[in-house]
This record gives sequence, structure tokens and C-alpha cells, in this order.
Amino acid sequence: MAKKSAKKTVKKTAKAAPKSKSKLKSKSNSKAKSATAAKSKPAAKSKTQTASKASPANPRARGVSAKPRASSAPRDFPRDFLWGTATAATQVDGGDTASDWSHFCRQRGRILDGSTSDTACDHWNRYEADFGIMKSMGLNAHRFGVDWSRFQPEAGGEFDPEALDHLRARLSSLKRKNIRPLLTLHHFAVPQWWLAKGGFTREANLGEFYAFARFIVEGVGDLVEDYITFNEPNIYALMSYLLGAWPPARKGMSGYVDHIKVQRSMVLAHFTLYDMIREIHGRKNFKTPRISISKHMRIMDPRNPESRLDVDRANVADYRMNRLVPDAIHSGRLLEPLGNGEQIHDPEAWDFYGLNYYTRDIVSFALLKPQTLFINTEVRPGCETNDLGWEIYPEGLERLLLDVHARYGLPIQITENGTADAADAFRGKYMIDHLAAVKRAMDAGVQVDAYYHWSFLDNFEWAEGYTARFGLVGVDYETQQRSLRPAGELYGQIARTGILPAV
Ligand code: FCB
Repeated sequence: MAKKSAKKTVKKTAKAAPKSKSKLKSKSNSKAKSATAAKSKPAAKSKTQTASKASPANPRARGVSAKPRASSAPRDFPRDFLWGTATAATQVDGGDTASDWSHFCRQRGRILDGSTSDTACDHWNRYEADFGIMKSMGLNAHRFGVDWSRFQPEAGGEFDPEALDHLRARLSSLKRKNIRPLLTLHHFAVPQWWLAKGGFTREANLGEFYAFARFIVEGVGDLVEDYITFNEPNIYALMSYLLGAWPPARKGMSGYVDHIKVQRSMVLAHFTLYDMIREIHGRKNFKTPRISISKHMRIMDPRNPESRLDVDRANVADYRMNRLVPDAIHSGRLLEPLGNGEQIHDPEAWDFYGLNYYTRDIVSFALLKPQTLFINTEVRPGCETNDLGWEIYPEGLERLLLDVHARYGLPIQITENGTADAADAFRGKYMIDHLAAVKRAMDAGVQVDAYYHWSFLDNFEWAEGYTARFGLVGVDYETQQRSLRPAGELYGQIARTGILPAV
């Protein structure tokens, strides 16, 4: 009962003005330039490990010591909560030959294990069985993306009607299973021909991206209500143009300039796509869409809270990592350094906030790092980490949810959260701890409508290749055999009951 009324209050506050402005102040928001090392990952500890088979007798994941609560326990999450998983085309589909990633994988030394995304999980051909696994887990939502190069492999070429049919078949399969799709239009990859002419660094190129987006939305808008225009613009710009780790592997001063241009283009494109998607849905009598971006956020804590320099750099890192693009979208202005603050769209060109959360960085001032705006990031010494060396910090999710709610007052969907854990030793506990953080935020009045676990399957983890295993379902890449991990069983149990097991 108490929970029900809490939820009601939450719904009421959904689009309300920010709750506590003091929270805004406490995170001082310097707009100075930052170039934080975001996704620079230590080498994976574990290369291959066969997915452990779930034990039907024991639905609890290893690493979760407590028993499930009685089925009479009150629900922690509302009945209409969306429980999903997330994937990206390049990481799971296989068969892509024309994307920038397909080309990049062929360059020596780019991918940690020398692998390619050529086959990945062969999900393009196996989606029906894979969605069947989701259904049997009791999930009711799934986030996945389209790879533009699959639809238009050549410059100026026609869009491929067969690729569209395939996408419709996938969406129809989800619909038959009562699994609500969240469709991502851009998740890091672009056609190689488009990258070669500058990709997102040239605003003049955006028309081609719009034509692709129009083709998709007109073609499948009757089957989709929820859209992500861009996945993690900040990480894309950082990894591809500043750190040189992803295609086109740019860095240096000109890379720095382009990493700003890319984020500016993505903000401009988001505004255009927001209007376009709504126009198409309205004109074609499709359901009213819900549109956002997926925003990669990480906690940026100063190494020494007494040091003004560390605190200042942490604030700069926080602004660049967590605020710049969302603030621009929310205000409708091209904020510095994306522009001069000019108003270019109505405010609030989004319907919810898509939040991707994994970890925290410890930030300090580094005199010898002018290229990253004197920002050094490191993992907190001695902390608990995952297979990629990322700190496991569930409280960070609660902090970010409260912060996002206070700033934007939008309903929130957690569009990615998960961990690299080849042995599935701590994934279950990770999930419970992060969901407990979500629940605390909801109890405090934050509207969270969805949680998409990253990821459904083990997959091609960009420059880490196949060395990192994020799946609730393990994949044997030799045989393409799937096996539900204990944490996957646990997730299904949580989704079916809405109850978090006590840890
Ligand atoms: C996110 C990406 C996703 C995956 C996870 C581990 O930043 O959006 O594709 O790589 O990290």
C-alpha cells in the first residue's frame, strides 16, 4: 500500500520543476573544457570462459548469498515497470561488411584479441530463438539498434528493402511475445563510405543520416513507440576522435576539435530527428512516440576532496561527461563549447531521460596532461572491480538518478547497466545492488520506468573484441550455443515478481 502511494507521488512529479536546486549547486558546474578518459579500459583479465549452465534448482546467481523473499512480499517495482535487456547491432548481429567497424577490425592491432564483428552472435539469423529466451525469462522490453550500413552499404545507393523487411520481422516477433521494443538509430557504427567523407564532423553530411532515419521510421513506426536517437554521443566522440581507440581513430589537437564538432552535430541531429519522428508518427497515425538519447554517465569524484585543483577538474570532467549534451537538449541551446549558447530549438526535445550507468572515475589535476585539459582519471585504489577493471559502485546510480531528476524532471529509463563477469561470479549481486539503488531513488520520488540490462548476450565489445562477457546469456562463439547464466535466471525472477531478493 505504502509503495503504491509512493509510486503515485512519483508519477505526479514526473514533469514537475526540479525538486531541489541545492543539489545543482553542490555540484559546481564549470563549463571549462574537459577531455576525460572515459572508456579507456584496462586489458581484460579473462579471455574465454564457457558460460555456466543455469541450474534450474537454484534460481539464485552465484555471489548472491541471501534467499529470495517470500512470494507474498510486497512488490519493490510497479507492475507496469519495463524489464528489458539491451544490445547493439554491431555487437550481436554479424554479417555486416560495410560499416566503419567492419573496416576497422581488419586493421592490425585495433581489436584486443584480433577478432572482428563479422559473425558476432549471429543474432541477425537467430533473433527468433533469442527473443524466445527473453520471453521465457519473463522480460517485457528489449532495446536494440539498427546499423545504417546494413540498409545503405554504398554511397548514394538505394535503401535495401530486404533489410527493412528483416527489421519488421524482428519487431513483429517481439510484438508477438509482448516484448516492447526500444529502437536505437545510432549506436557508434556508421557506413564506411560516410565516415570517409567526414561522418558527424561535417554538418553538411547530416542530410544523409536523416534520409536513413526517415526510411527506418516511416518503415517501422507502426511497430515502435520508443526511440533512442543516439547512444552515448560523449563516449562516441571521446573514443573515436580524442582517444584514438575507435574508428576513425583520431586524436591530437585536430581530433579534439572534431570531438566537439561530433557532439554538436549529434545535438543538432537529435533536434531534427525528434521533430521528424513526431511528424511521421502524427502523419501516419502511428502511436505517439517517446524519444530520447542514451546518455553515458559516470560519477566523477575528486581524488582529494580537500584539493581545489582536484575538485575543479572533477567538476569540469563531470560537466563534459554528464551534462553538456543533455543540458543542450534540455535547453534547446548550443551550449559552449558546442556553440555560443544560441537557442536553436524549443526546450525539452525529449520525452524521457535514457541513462546508461556502469562505474565511477576518480579525478585529479595532472599538470602534464594538457591534452585532456589537465584531467587525470583513475580507478579508486583497492575498490571492487569487474573483469575490465571498472569499479563496481551501485550508490553511483542512485546519486545520478537523483541528480537527473532534480535537473530535468523527466521520467527516466535506465537504458544500460551491467557488468563484465565471465565467471558470472558477481553479476547477480551487481544487479541486485544496482536495482536496490534504483528503488531507493524511486522511493525518494524519482520516476524510473524501465531497466535494460546490458547485455542480453555476450557480444563483441568494441576494441575489447570478445574478451569481455557482459551477457545474461553466455555465448559459445564456436557453436553459437546460448546458455542462460544464473544471473539471467535471477533477472527473470526479479522481472516476473517485481521483488528484489534480499542480499
Ligand atoms: C556502453 C556501450 C555498449 C557497451 C557497454 C559495455 O558504453 O553503449 O555498447 O559497450 O558500454
